Amino acid sequence: MNLGELESVAHSLVVAGKGILAADESAPTIEKRFKTIDLPSTEENRRAYRDLLFTTPGVSEFISGVILYDETIRQRSADGTPFTKVLERQGIVPGIKVDEGAKPLTGFPGEKITEGLDGLRGRLPEYRALGARFAKWRAVIDIGAGIPTRYCIRANAHALARYAALCQEAGIVPIVEPEVLMDGGHTIERCEEVTTEVLSLVYAELTAHRVALEGTLLKPNMVVSGKGCPAQAGASQVAEATVRTLSRVVPPAVPGIVFLSGGQTPRQATEHLGAMNAMGKHPWELSFSYGRALQDPVLKAWKGKAANVPEAKEAFFLRAKLNGAARHGKYSPSMEPASNLIR
Ligand code: 13P
Repeated sequence: MNLGELESVAHSLVVAGKGILAADESAPTIEKRFKTIDLPSTEENRRAYRDLLFTTPGVSEFISGVILYDETIRQRSADGTPFTKVLERQGIVPGIKVDEGAKPLTGFPGEKITEGLDGLRGRLPEYRALGARFAKWRAVIDIGAGIPTRYCIRANAHALARYAALCQEAGIVPIVEPEVLMDGGHTIERCEEVTTEVLSLVYAELTAHRVALEGTLLKPNMVVSGKGCPAQAGASQVAEATVRTLSRVVPPAVPGIVFLSGGQTPRQATEHLGAMNAMGKHPWELSFSYGRALQDPVLKAWKGKAANVPEAKEAFFLRAKLNGAARHGKYSPSMEPASNLIR
């Protein structure tokens, strides 16, 4: 492992004003996304959609890296150029999702464990040869009656640490993603309590596995109210609770925190990130690694039709630009266009 190289990749991903596009939807997830625009999930539709995203002019001003899926990292742009090259030419770092999804945790009803460690050591060098310089592994923690259990959190933290150590061995920066879901009627206080416990255990495991935190990034949920909670916290409360939680449990050796959007609307995700960065300087860069919050407006504009590609690219550019502004703490909802595509 060359820690200097890992550190430099990690820093480049959270450079000022830029963040990550998560375009690593697995086959079942992209099918779900395409259903919202009545589009069948064929290999060519998936390729055309990712092509649209990766060839949006000027987007590299705000996008530092893109997370790809196993199928996507092997696909090409319409002119035959591999997607990885299309990204590299713009100075965008290609990354790869390496987990194999969250599966039921036996003996723990309602809880999940992420699979994919078997054979991972063998798969990583191929991804690196294809151009991946960073990776992602997502653990899922649900809040509900009697859950999460300590055992579920520990099992997922252990898997995240095993994954992170293997990535570093292969010269790949691990993005460590423990997602506390926002589904449910829980309060923001409960989300804070669970997120604190999850992150504490994740960092204990990473340290126990001798992972060099300087060569990693964290991809957490923000601390928000459950979607079904009658009292919804506003942007400043979310920003304060999230920064307080992170400051208690994330070591300053971690170069950056790249939030997932997790079901927040595009506007909320941008506003929350902007509010955190407007609070002043933090020990880590606070950035984004959004999937839906960057892509929902793009899908709505595209609708699977070639004629809509220019409009869809515009929608992606705008969302990337607004999140770039949020990185500087300079986002204001007044910067949003009147269009209802973006809500
Ligand atoms: P969302 O921003 O849609 O939550 O996706 C980010 C991601 O990569 C989840 O693993």
